[in-house]
Amino acid sequence: MAKNKLSFVCIDCGDNFSKWQGQCDTCGAWNTLQEFKEPVQTRNTKSHSNQKGYSGAKELVQKLSDVCLEELPRFGTKNTEFDRVLGGGIVPGSVILLAGTPGAGKSTLTLQTLCELSQSIQSIYLSGEESLSQIAMRAARLKLPTQHLDIAAETDVLAVLNMVSQLKSKLVVIDSLQSMYHPDVTGTPGGVTQLRECAHALTQYAKQNGVAMIVICHTTKDGGVAGPRVVEHIADVMMHLLVMEGSRFRELRAQKNRFGSINELGILAMMPDNGYLKAVTDPSAIFLNRSRQPHPGSMVAALWEGSRSMLVELQSLVVESSQGNPRRLAVGLDQNRVNMLVAILMRHGDLAIFDQELYVNLVGGLKISDPSTDLPLILSMISSFQNRAIPQDWLAFGEVGLSGEIRATPSGLERIRQAAQQGFCHCICPKANIPKTLPEGIKVYGVETLVEAIDALDHIA
Ligand code: TYD
Ligand code: MG
Repeated sequence: MAKNKLSFVCIDCGDNFSKWQGQCDTCGAWNTLQEFKEPVQTRNTKSHSNQKGYSGAKELVQKLSDVCLEELPRFGTKNTEFDRVLGGGIVPGSVILLAGTPGAGKSTLTLQTLCELSQSIQSIYLSGEESLSQIAMRAARLKLPTQHLDIAAETDVLAVLNMVSQLKSKLVVIDSLQSMYHPDVTGTPGGVTQLRECAHALTQYAKQNGVAMIVICHTTKDGGVAGPRVVEHIADVMMHLLVMEGSRFRELRAQKNRFGSINELGILAMMPDNGYLKAVTDPSAIFLNRSRQPHPGSMVAALWEGSRSMLVELQSLVVESSQGNPRRLAVGLDQNRVNMLVAILMRHGDLAIFDQELYVNLVGGLKISDPSTDLPLILSMISSFQNRAIPQDWLAFGEVGLSGEIRATPSGLERIRQAAQQGFCHCICPKANIPKTLPEGIKVYGVETLVEAIDALDHIA
């Protein structure tokens, strides 16, 4: 009997080694090598290459310009936010990894999508985690149309592919990759050997048969897919569903997308009554609280996420510190960038806050790394330090450079337009971002330096 070949695989980069070692030579990670038994290869590679023949290779190669262009026929998911992050819908034959923490709503989102699409596309939901009655109860709670959706509780990946093939399904959900096993290889489900083989089998089938697969994955503490990195490499789209801290909102972001931008942010709201995940088409409405009184330390920022503008509230609290080394804490924003802005403010804004504690917060639980939040954040720090409230119809955007210059940001006009639509009347922004024709009802203060931006606040009535 042929023996399985033993090798060691790095669960971080997926590279193979013949011997175990403490550190991976390829990516440098420690203690990431795990035993892996290669399945016996029945195919004779030598005769395979001979069969095709090197003489026929020329026929397989063509000039790039001769390749006929095919517009990828996508199908929408009936959820605008899911479509936005996918890059305009699902591409047939693509493999989409949907990762997220437990309870984020991965099973809910995929079940909703499949029930709604199964009326027009042959779809199957394969669960290795929940029983059929649990899934049926969830569908009933979410009031989903269930008559056309095929479901099965199966964990053997070959049996899964057999079902998909017999039912001629065009859209498949695997819940989850960690619960699947390949009968030809050893190892427990969720282990490196099993994950790698299951992912390969699913991807190969998807590509060869033009079947779209949404594969649910568990995440590790640092947010990556639990398993070998190679799983992330073979997928076409890799996205994360994140719970926004302390809220019922969910953030959907792509980390990799072969068919679209990775800058898009999708926002979903979990309905409190039944857990249905609803697309939030106007996120500004959930991040701004326009009803309350203005208070010191608060300023609205106009962000640009992927292809839309979003208004969010930034808050700062500057308080005198009794310690020699005052605390600085950022929630939802990059801590290092906040430290840098404090230094810029002290040097170019002439504001001595070195002996003050500083807390900054992006309201709503969102996490953002857009540098155009620099200017509104600095202005909110000044507002808190001087205990002077900025009125609610003011907002700002712009990147702040190390020499105190205010740098232009992309899509200035769209940000200003969105602000005007939301009823804002005053906008402080980089001078280079002032549009030729201004939207009605908004006054724009174009600034080139931090000093000019601080002076613009003098226009507050
Ligand atoms: P689920 O799709 O099971 O998460 P995942 O597959 O990512 O682990 O989502 C479960 C969520 O649904 C959980 O956050 C709680 C919520 N929920 C409701 O809002 N209402 C309910 O009645 C139930 C049972 C769950
Ligand atoms: Mg689940």
